[in-house]
Amino acid sequence: MASASRATPDKLPAWQTLKQHAEELKSVHLKTLFGSDRSRWSNFTRQVAGLTLDLSKQRWDDDTLEHLLALAHDAGVPGAIDALLSGKRVNTSENRPALHTALRLPADAILNVEGEDVVAGVHESLAQMERLVCRLHAGQWRGATGKPIRHVVNLGVGGSDLGPLMVTHALADCRPRDIHPIEVHFASTMDGSQLADYLSRFNPETTIFVLSSKSFTTIDTLSNANTARDWLLGRLTHHGDFASTSDVSAELIVRQHFIGVSASPEKMSEWGIAADHQLKFWEWVGGRYSLWGTIGLPIALVIGMANFRELLAGAHAMDSHFREAPLEDNLPVLLALAGIWNVNFLDIRAHSILPYDGRLEYFAAYLEQLEMESNGKSVTRQGQAVSYSTCPVLWGQLGPNAQHAFYQLLHQGTQPVVCDFIAPLKRYDEVADPDTRRHLKAQHRLALANCFAQSRVLMLGDDALDDDGPRPEHKRYRGNQPSTTVLLDKLTPHSLGALIALYEHKVFVQAVIWDINPFDQWGVELGKQIATDTQAIIEGEGDIARMDASSRGLIEAFWAAEQDE
Ligand code: F6P
Repeated sequence: MASASRATPDKLPAWQTLKQHAEELKSVHLKTLFGSDRSRWSNFTRQVAGLTLDLSKQRWDDDTLEHLLALAHDAGVPGAIDALLSGKRVNTSENRPALHTALRLPADAILNVEGEDVVAGVHESLAQMERLVCRLHAGQWRGATGKPIRHVVNLGVGGSDLGPLMVTHALADCRPRDIHPIEVHFASTMDGSQLADYLSRFNPETTIFVLSSKSFTTIDTLSNANTARDWLLGRLTHHGDFASTSDVSAELIVRQHFIGVSASPEKMSEWGIAADHQLKFWEWVGGRYSLWGTIGLPIALVIGMANFRELLAGAHAMDSHFREAPLEDNLPVLLALAGIWNVNFLDIRAHSILPYDGRLEYFAAYLEQLEMESNGKSVTRQGQAVSYSTCPVLWGQLGPNAQHAFYQLLHQGTQPVVCDFIAPLKRYDEVADPDTRRHLKAQHRLALANCFAQSRVLMLGDDALDDDGPRPEHKRYRGNQPSTTVLLDKLTPHSLGALIALYEHKVFVQAVIWDINPFDQWGVELGKQIATDTQAIIEGEGDIARMDASSRGLIEAFWAAEQDE
């Protein structure tokens, strides 16, 4: 990272230049910027690793980019990229590296971190994961009563859920053929509702659980795990519904029906996970950056190890680009700078993620954690309160569905919002039936037409229409809303890996410029602590009188409801 004594970004000369420049550009409409620069698309579009990044609809010009690049240099972005990728302790508050990029290094690479090559260990853990995947895919993994496994339920939350959930959904078409049929499911919520649904439908003899938790202390995951364990024990031991074989011991059930994935082997063992069913990873992999290693087990189960390695290769291609490309051609850097410009100079503090492909349904949810847990910070790495905005409020959902939900606000509301449109160029080539393929390809064109139309209307407003007749005020569109479009040649493991890495590195570059640590999440700790106290009070073990009136009222309402049951 940049040196500890670095000035905060708002004190850097380029920041001041940008402030002045923003004053000049604030009143210039996007349509004017397009009108005055015929080569805008080529000037502001870059391609790498199967991705096309179109930043031409940002409310900026060549000078803006020049000043932003100067800011990136002044803030020490090139040195910080090197520090990240070479394993320096960039996670300053926890005093460790953030080495998710090491998880996607090829086997013949060498990365010495503090005197030790980490690549061999990474590939050993992948090989161990592959052995488990192969057993499950071959139908060789047997439940405690001897039956092959049908359902795998991932129990995890945050980074131990969202990445695998997002990728398995996005790449479900890549399932290998000719494997034992296995379905992968996810339960994250501590209220047990997702899990309860599975428990009501699945056969315990053919269901296993993956307990995914970096810390192995997360109550959400452990409460689901305890419920799952009791369900299995209740049904598979000699008292239960499936007690066909009398010698099924509790130990065998826990052994055969749980896999653990964690950075804490001790805690996995304490919970009862068999040593050879434990997949480990390292403290230097942040939870929200962990899908690339053993936390990716559900991904490998759905898409197979060969495709999982392609996902890693795509991310690695983006890592190499991030390390080598000059800042002005560096996709993550440019994406980050567009964000800095919007947040800090145009005062646009809402950001919507809008994929135009149903397979990317969970991409926005994934980015919500990646961006807001990483950069939702207000203290610099030196511990000073920041005097500028950091991470915007980021949310999203599938673009075509959002068109019928919140686009009204994008087009005519009072809040400025920047949007990321994401879409694959090619789709449905693999559908065998020609009639269905024709229909689906037409639907793909329909989706792309809508994607391109929306960014155009956001940019031009009313002027997107050829007819320029008078319009009543309630039908006016002001336009001038900036957006980015990311096109994937095709949605494949490789391009998805590159896309995710693009956003990971964008988040990092923004953190460098804002001088914050993107790799910790202290802000979620107090809530966990207070929840523990509150739970004690709900259970009648604490002093409700010391609580505020609202919290007291809520708890008393709950107690009254319990009395009625
Ligand atoms: O509470 C936030 C958090 O720590 C996230 O950073 C993390 O991804 C999630 O909880 C789950 O943590 P774990 O994998 O340790 O269960």
